[in-house]
Amino acid sequence: MKDRVDQRLREALAAREDAGLLRKITARPSTDSRTNLAGNDYLDLAHDPAVLIAAAEALHTWGASASASALVTGYTELHAKLEETLAAWHGYPHALVMNSGYAANGAVLGQLPKPGDVVLADRLIHASMVNGILSSGARLRRFAHNDLDALELMLVEESGRDGAVFVVTESIYSMDGDAPDLSRLTALRARHGFVWILDEAHATGWHGLSGSGLQEEQGCRAAADVVVGTLGKALGSQGAYVLCHNPDIRETLVNLAGEFVYSTHLAPPAVAAALAAISRTHDLSVDRPRWHNLSREWREGLSEAGFSVPSGHSPIIPIVMGDAVRALKVAEGLRASGFLVAAIRPPTVPDGTARVRISLHRNLTENTRAGFIAALKGLNL
Ligand SMILES: Cc1ncc(COP(=O)(O)O)c(C=O)c1O
Repeated sequence: MKDRVDQRLREALAAREDAGLLRKITARPSTDSRTNLAGNDYLDLAHDPAVLIAAAEALHTWGASASASALVTGYTELHAKLEETLAAWHGYPHALVMNSGYAANGAVLGQLPKPGDVVLADRLIHASMVNGILSSGARLRRFAHNDLDALELMLVEESGRDGAVFVVTESIYSMDGDAPDLSRLTALRARHGFVWILDEAHATGWHGLSGSGLQEEQGCRAAADVVVGTLGKALGSQGAYVLCHNPDIRETLVNLAGEFVYSTHLAPPAVAAALAAISRTHDLSVDRPRWHNLSREWREGLSEAGFSVPSGHSPIIPIVMGDAVRALKVAEGLRASGFLVAAIRPPTVPDGTARVRISLHRNLTENTRAGFIAALKGLNL
């Protein structure tokens, strides 16, 4: 019996390796001086002095761990303060801190849709949302990426049926760095009355006048029914949150979401780091147009060098290679030239669209951009 399991594991891993899809984790030393274009610390806040001090103070006051789930003793005044701050920042009356974005999406999408409901989801939503939807028992229909005409057709088809309709999108897509038209989604929601769940993981901090995300930037603040945001990307910490208008959504998650009920709550130093990072995000807001230009300049530079990249001003730039082995080789070549980049391969992205994904951060210099483009050209693709 055990032999059969061992053989099954070996064969599955070998098949992955043959297809260039095997993942490996490499321990990064603290002395690694390469430019990190793979992490999601878009605002360079993970090492910001104010963030570090806040985390260290919380470490001394509250300890290294919350030591219990929120429903036992893990929920502290610090967590409550973070929830109040997040809610006010984004314009929602209710917020709930969660341990990770993966858990938050699983909780929201696992608990809100029910069998008999339909969930209309963008083809490229994050795996955590797909897993949540599949666990809910609701019917899942997927529309072409950012194709709101296709969504509208589905909404018409689903109207008049029993059961609720949910629409699930991201604001900045994690592997493409592009965005749907949130104003149109807001109008569609008003017309069709669906429940809109929006993942702002990669928009928070980088987008919007105060950095609260793409809803703010596109003039539809707090339009979605539920927002999931993360603390582990632009906010330089760890963990996530759910925002909602309806208090019963928060109470449902507190009572029924296994990800919340049965898990040690977010560590206080991470909570304090996030609070300090939000305050730093407000201080940095005047500089935001410069980062948006930085994103445009990287895209222009890459296009001029002959690489096809989408236009935009988000912090994520995909350079699609197609073949997984090729993407891996390019990422390795860039790492050897001093740039940490991620090769993103199926099943994280659709077959045939393996890519090198660049995550920008606000302190990148022109020299870095020129050096990166020269290194990429030097690979003679
Ligand atoms: C769009 C999106 N949502 C959620 C998550 C999960 O967030 P976390 O890393 O906090 O689990 C990610 C992570 O990469 C993401 O890209």
